[in-house]
Amino acid sequence: MTTTADYAEKIPNNVNLHEDRRLQRALESWQPNFLNWWQTMGPTLPTRDVYLRTAINVGRDGWAQFGHVAMPEYRWGIFLAERDPGRKVGFGEHKGEPVWDKVPGEYRAELQRLIVIQGDTEPASVEQQRNLGATAPSLYDLRNLFQVNVEEGRHLWAMVYLLHAYFGREGREEAEELLHRNSGSLDAPRILGAFNEETPDWLSFYMFTYFTDRDGKYQLGTLKESAFDPLSRTCEFMLKEEAHHMMVGTTGVDRVVQRTVEVMRERDTDDVAGLGAIPLPVIQKYLNFHYSVSLDLFGGETSTNVANYYTAGLKGRWLEDRRKDDHKLTSDSIMVDALSEDAHGELSIGQTEVSALVGLNTDLRREYISDCQGGVKRWNRILEEGGVRHRLRLPHAAFNRKVGAFAAIEATPDGEKIPAEEWQRRQGEWLPTDVDKTYVRSLMQSVHQRGKIAAWIAPPRNGINGQPFDYDYVHLA
Ligand SMILES: [Fe+2]
Ligand SMILES: [Fe+2]
Repeated sequence: MTTTADYAEKIPNNVNLHEDRRLQRALESWQPNFLNWWQTMGPTLPTRDVYLRTAINVGRDGWAQFGHVAMPEYRWGIFLAERDPGRKVGFGEHKGEPVWDKVPGEYRAELQRLIVIQGDTEPASVEQQRNLGATAPSLYDLRNLFQVNVEEGRHLWAMVYLLHAYFGREGREEAEELLHRNSGSLDAPRILGAFNEETPDWLSFYMFTYFTDRDGKYQLGTLKESAFDPLSRTCEFMLKEEAHHMMVGTTGVDRVVQRTVEVMRERDTDDVAGLGAIPLPVIQKYLNFHYSVSLDLFGGETSTNVANYYTAGLKGRWLEDRRKDDHKLTSDSIMVDALSEDAHGELSIGQTEVSALVGLNTDLRREYISDCQGGVKRWNRILEEGGVRHRLRLPHAAFNRKVGAFAAIEATPDGEKIPAEEWQRRQGEWLPTDVDKTYVRSLMQSVHQRGKIAAWIAPPRNGINGQPFDYDYVHLA
């Protein structure tokens, strides 16, 4: 198979699309619908061109090229990571058997469902972020926003390719639905809650790309283990692009914290509201919100569906091959979060033991949580180096949950269970209030001059692809 995309083709790809005329025609007829969706639901800020990375290859040496591109002409392509001809199923009841090039009939519905759920998140984030261009703090940030947007668009292509190529008419119908559902829509919302939330300001954008794109990383990581080889290879390549989205989030929050510290020190005060920076308690509230809604994306603590996906070989664990067990888990157990009830019917936060298979959502969520600790650690290092005492932290897993065992209760960020009316009264201490949001939004004034940046955020340490910060990353229309 070839690994370099043919850009002379309407749909750049490394899957020899021209050899399958039917599939090619089907995707070519989906393409105008995609472009129409991009025009109506994609970025609203008019631009002439943007300095973007375009995937061109999946090989080791250089998989992307950079250049100024008019966004509607971006080449959304189909790329699967190179095939490993000897690849074997790594877990579940088919462990050790050769991986599948086709969808086995008995797993068709489940695989289609997994692909649709993943596919639904990709365009959702573009929709959530569509108005941010109007308030970008710098051309560098604006460029990063658009990079994330076009790549989420490409991830949609990746999932639509699988639906068209392997799931027949039903797959084509699902591909249409991916363009009909919209983030926040009342009649046809996106499938998962966090993808119907607004991303109204840039602090939210950085938190989203840190916490919610990171959920994407973990979901893709489990699908990369799939015995269905085309899905595995698709996700492997998507993970490469996803790394940049998380870099945008990680360094975005770094820079917000950095600027807040600078203003605190310059003015010798903790109270930087009104001084053009974002107070640390507000940053903490945004963190609390995005982290807790992202925890919900991992689903309930226990799931028999997910146990079945694992046993069938459809969806593995994060870094499956590094796990030192039998990769079947039929006789293992795991402690998962749970509510326990005392003799008086009073609920309390606790844990319970379940079979490892049923607890796989918990396993994945734990991997994610320990990864998130890394961000908090680095932001706290910025605080420490700036001589500021305040520290950021991840709230307890029971805080602000709508999915899973803790959805039934209210809890503080410390993990103390509280009555519903206390939650009503105090949630503004922990989640962004209208006042906080209005303040953050008031800071969001676009800065479109090269090398200039808004006052609430520090410039990045590095530009993109070796270019300086003051490079002409975006030409506005
Ligand atoms: Fe994505
Ligand atoms: Fe992403």
